[in-house]
Amino acid sequence: MKETWIVELNEDNFKSSIEKAGALLKAGKTVAFPTETVYGLGANALDEKAILGIYEAKGRPSDNPLIVHISSLEMLAPLIERKQPYVEKLIRAFWPGPIAMIFEKAPGVPLKTTGGLNTVAIRMPSHPVALALIDAAGVPIAAPSANISGKPSPTVGKYVVCDMNGRVDGILDGGEVAVGLESTVIDVTGDFPVILRPGKITKAQIIEVVGACEVDPALEEKDGSLEVVARAPGMKYRHYAPDAKVSVYYGDYTQVLIELEALILERVKAKRKVAVLLFEEDYAFLSKLLAPQLTEKDCEYVAYFLQGSIKQLETFAKNLFRNLREADEGACEEILIRGVSEEGIGKAIMNRLEKASEGRIFKI
Ligand code: TXA
Ligand code: MG
Repeated sequence: MKETWIVELNEDNFKSSIEKAGALLKAGKTVAFPTETVYGLGANALDEKAILGIYEAKGRPSDNPLIVHISSLEMLAPLIERKQPYVEKLIRAFWPGPIAMIFEKAPGVPLKTTGGLNTVAIRMPSHPVALALIDAAGVPIAAPSANISGKPSPTVGKYVVCDMNGRVDGILDGGEVAVGLESTVIDVTGDFPVILRPGKITKAQIIEVVGACEVDPALEEKDGSLEVVARAPGMKYRHYAPDAKVSVYYGDYTQVLIELEALILERVKAKRKVAVLLFEEDYAFLSKLLAPQLTEKDCEYVAYFLQGSIKQLETFAKNLFRNLREADEGACEEILIRGVSEEGIGKAIMNRLEKASEGRIFKI
């Protein structure tokens, strides 16, 4: 067990806390901190021993490469071999921000950081705490999401403390993050960018900037098979997953609600506590459908988590991981989720739901 220094940042302690955290990182220690996407678990990206501390704290397979975070463009050149001409446009459009780019790595970047690959993922986050911290450390900071491997990424300080207290040297609590899903990851080693992980920044936005962008065929394939009613479970890693069993229902707006109504009734009558993640509009409709069928006692077996309006998928993204964890805290056995359309950030939401549900995504 490590002694973990934990601080809730405020105006008064900001400067001294950043200085202290920066010094820890410089000394090869691990510090968790907020970024605009999710909380990261940072260590000096150029220090192999420090990097081992990350894998240990997370219980992460060491062949899973880390994203290296920088706070200025001067930090980029020493980390990479070359840069395709179109990358300048991407940097101007999206950095600092929620997109990581994969380059061929410079020899100085340890293979421990890149999971043995000859490429390195780099991101300049926009969160003021992340930028100030990297500046204070004076070195590039490798940072995966600050969760135990397999759990949902933390979007509030409380869940970083839950997972990482006693495992890391420091935790900076900077409140709730803005995006709530991890960055878009793109490979920029080729003639055009290729999306490996969908995020807030979409294919359409990238095409607008550089004229071309593809999605990794592995992702497309999975999306194609979304049309199949029952998805093959048991994908390579369980990811973003709470303890409760997750199932996702998407398709015709009203039919999904009718399906949820039946599922909730069945669970509640069997006295099995169920969490339901849904839009505000769904809740208004569903609670009317269910009201005459449930007793006050029955209602204790269902917990609703509102994901914002159907017109605002950004709120769905922001609340998703936190609500998955809160459903677990409420000792729900099962989590039923209304799936979303794959427009905009919806693609990233469905990608995370696919992993969290281990493929239990049902088209209604
Ligand atoms: O938003 C984010 O990116 C957050 C915050 C903390 O910045 N970080 C994050 O890191 O999500 P992590 O480790 O949870 O996810 C990194 C993803 C993994 O899917 C990893 O396989 C991929 O990026 N990745 C990193 N380097 C790569 C490389 N060289 N080639 C292919 N994939 C890479
Ligand atoms: Mg992660």
